[in-house]
Amino acid sequence: MKIEFVGAPSPSAVVAVLVNEGRELSAPAQAYDQRSGGALTRAVAGGRFTGGKASSLALVAPHGLEAPQLVAVGAGAKDKFDDLALEGAAGHAYHSVKLSGHDTLALDLSDRSAADAARAAFAIRLAAYRFDKYRTTEKPERKPSIATVQIVTADPAAAQAAFAPLAAIAEGVLFARDLVSEVPNVLYPAEFARRCKALEPLGLQVEVLGEAEMTKLGMNTLLAVGQGSAKESQLVVMRWNGAADKDAQPIAFVGKGVTFDTGGISIKPAEGMEEMKFDMGGAAAVAGLMHALAGRKAKVNAVGVLGLVENMPDGDAQRPGDVVKSMSGQTVEIINTDAEGRLVLADALWYTQERFKPKFMVDLATLTGAMIISLGLDYAGIFANDDDLAAALAAGSAEVGENTWRLPLPAQYEKQIESACADMKNTGGRPAGSITAALFLQKFTNGVPWAHIDIAPTAWKKDSKVATVPDGASGFGVRLLDRMVAAKYEG
Ligand code: BES
Ligand code: MN
Ligand code: ZN
Repeated sequence: MKIEFVGAPSPSAVVAVLVNEGRELSAPAQAYDQRSGGALTRAVAGGRFTGGKASSLALVAPHGLEAPQLVAVGAGAKDKFDDLALEGAAGHAYHSVKLSGHDTLALDLSDRSAADAARAAFAIRLAAYRFDKYRTTEKPERKPSIATVQIVTADPAAAQAAFAPLAAIAEGVLFARDLVSEVPNVLYPAEFARRCKALEPLGLQVEVLGEAEMTKLGMNTLLAVGQGSAKESQLVVMRWNGAADKDAQPIAFVGKGVTFDTGGISIKPAEGMEEMKFDMGGAAAVAGLMHALAGRKAKVNAVGVLGLVENMPDGDAQRPGDVVKSMSGQTVEIINTDAEGRLVLADALWYTQERFKPKFMVDLATLTGAMIISLGLDYAGIFANDDDLAAALAAGSAEVGENTWRLPLPAQYEKQIESACADMKNTGGRPAGSITAALFLQKFTNGVPWAHIDIAPTAWKKDSKVATVPDGASGFGVRLLDRMVAAKYEG
């Protein structure tokens, strides 16, 4: 899809205009209304369309206009029309016309700032995401027809300039979504690593460690998860050094990248197992973040570390009852091979703090089904040993609309992961399952400021109500982390 900023729409474009709650026409809406002899006012007057969010009303071939359709898009209450409401309205404008058969949408924001025009373009880029590479027989009428989106603005050059950093963030989100959407027979650890390596032209340094190197480093809890898979486990290290001082202490992000989670010997039920291709959503978000930071040349030194494994059952797979020594030296009794994400992150976190001595580490992981039980499907959980870091994440989260909620790390719950024969065990039973998982991770942070985001609820969307996050891979985390970095750690 092509996005352009223009002073006036092309004649064949479907034109979309904003209407605020209370049937309040925006200035461009009023202009089109006048040119059409009041057609918009008449259409809106008696009906149920009042300008509420996520609603729209289309006028077909309105008299006095060249446009094949004029679409009024609900923008919600005028006094609550913030950046997220604008994104929602722009995304909804796209969804309401994407199957119209017309090839150009022009969203007229000529009464608003260049920054708003850029944000609308960003929203439409995210809203239009689709993973259709494996569809060969899709009926043409079910395919989106919009190939060009025009944002009508008073200052196209300024809007184009304002769009550059947002386009970079969108690229990062879409990169993460493509990784999560990709099917597990195609996206195994080495393929994931290749796709990260291919980002080097953006100015990222990307290193890939294989099993031999990780064995030397003693990363046995990570390796244990992959040992039942025919695919080689990988650790990817992505670096972006954008700070004025290239040697300044970096910030670090760590991702769980289980390219498929069968559960291993503690195998999962068949029903719904195919969903476990998204168990690399944390690693995808970290890779997407690094893509975004490099793409917009963020003034920060950042490291992304991805632990990539496939959790399979076979004759070499780890067993419940095994004891494994982590890179930190701590030993872990394996109770359930399906609690594998924490084993991957244990070594990835330890490696990250030891090698990079970062200001802080944030890990993202589709770690526990219990997180969905706690928070439902619209919130990710945050756990942190550092209040400033938790607050910075919460602020970023609220600003970009990626919802999170902080949970506690009560030391007394560590009892649940005490083992009779090793330093700890890898599961803590049903009570507070997400918290005991986070307490497990904390043992591998070596006291470095750290936060863990359990994105099990949000990595994959069904019945999405958010226009910029279509069903499927959400890319959750890229925007939130990018915003946090921009607000707190650049400069
Ligand atoms: N990847 C799963 C967690 C998950 C479940 C994410 C559902 C998204 C949706 C994780 O590896 C897992 O299997 N966790 C177990 C832990 C248990 C064995 C302690 C779980 O949540 O059941
Ligand atoms: Mn699992
Ligand atoms: Zn998992």
